[in-house]
Amino acid sequence: MFAERNVSLQALNSFGIAARAARLARVRHEADVRAVLADADLAVQDKFVLGGGSNIVLTGDVKGLVLKVEVRGRRVVQQTERHTIVEAGAGENWHDFVTWTLDEGLPGLENLALIPGTVGASPVQNIGAYGLELQDRFHGLDAIDLHTGELFTLDAAQCGFGYRDSVFKHAAAHDGDFGLAGRALILRVRFALPKAWQPVLGYLDIERRMQEEGVSRPSARQMYDWIVAIRQAKLPDPAVIGNAGSFFKNPTVTPEQCQDIIGRDPHVVHYPMPDGSVKLAAGWLIDACGWKGKRVGNAAVYDRQALVLVNGGGAEHPATGGEVMTLARAIQTSVYERFGIRLEPEPVVV
Ligand code: EPU
Repeated sequence: MFAERNVSLQALNSFGIAARAARLARVRHEADVRAVLADADLAVQDKFVLGGGSNIVLTGDVKGLVLKVEVRGRRVVQQTERHTIVEAGAGENWHDFVTWTLDEGLPGLENLALIPGTVGASPVQNIGAYGLELQDRFHGLDAIDLHTGELFTLDAAQCGFGYRDSVFKHAAAHDGDFGLAGRALILRVRFALPKAWQPVLGYLDIERRMQEEGVSRPSARQMYDWIVAIRQAKLPDPAVIGNAGSFFKNPTVTPEQCQDIIGRDPHVVHYPMPDGSVKLAAGWLIDACGWKGKRVGNAAVYDRQALVLVNGGGAEHPATGGEVMTLARAIQTSVYERFGIRLEPEPVVV
């Protein structure tokens, strides 16, 4: 199996951090993984699975073997009474896949338009936006076990989806925890797209568009166009300004904790959840602490969305992973001191 040596990862992570991989092998087929495992030299290396690199912070060089997933293909695999099941290779670009489903007349993923990254990374953090999460449309996935070379299939329950969380983010096994971080390489993902499609509404930005345009029941294509426009206005394009999307999760608190925070600042943006807890807008908390536009070296807080940390030095003078994490920790400390809330990073820190 061919694996390049000393490869720059700068173009392979959306932050544009200039780390390197000791070895890198491209996985286009299941057989490529088996070839790695059959290669005496490569089999023993620590392995790191890289998709679109849009949700990682590289804090140093990767010492082992990077497996860059480039499995392609998109197809309809099955019709059930209520759903059309579509499948895509893990290496397909997520947004291109969403666009393809709509072009095929198969709505259901439009709220997740323009999320950076690959299809294979989408279940890892259970991507979500505008009231829809991946788990709402997920059908199953095929993955290969990097320890044994065995192919296996998981359904939604086995993926252990949570808010920006899944079994793929957790390290294996203590207390019987079925963690698959570092162990599973996702090859293909299947989605169940509803035949009786309804738009997923309710998100403030979408409601505003509906009012402005006098539309009460938008089509899937209309939702897609709005979401693309909203994201372009709010979020930096990683091709222009390096970033990894939202850097922190929106924290959930008890109603009592929320009252305490309202006491500290009555304007805090909060949403009651169906289970009685309250979700807070991390972006608002960070913004309220005055972080927009602030920098540590070449890492910066995006000036239009405080939840997004960006590479403020471009490709020439990229931020280091250390600078990004120093900035992240300073934000965590200031939000904790002001509001008593601990923010949890969303990307995987490598
Ligand atoms: N806000 C501020 N100042 C800021 C940023 C936000 O006051 O600098 C306020 C906004 O005005 C709004 C609230 O905070 O009232 C929430 O902001 P927004 O609607 O932009 O959404 P978000 O909570 O910042 C989440 C997801 C995004 C997703 C959007 C839309 C998380 C961590 N982030 O962001 O997901 O696109 O909702 O659904 O859940 C991602 O995960 O990478 C991501 C971009």
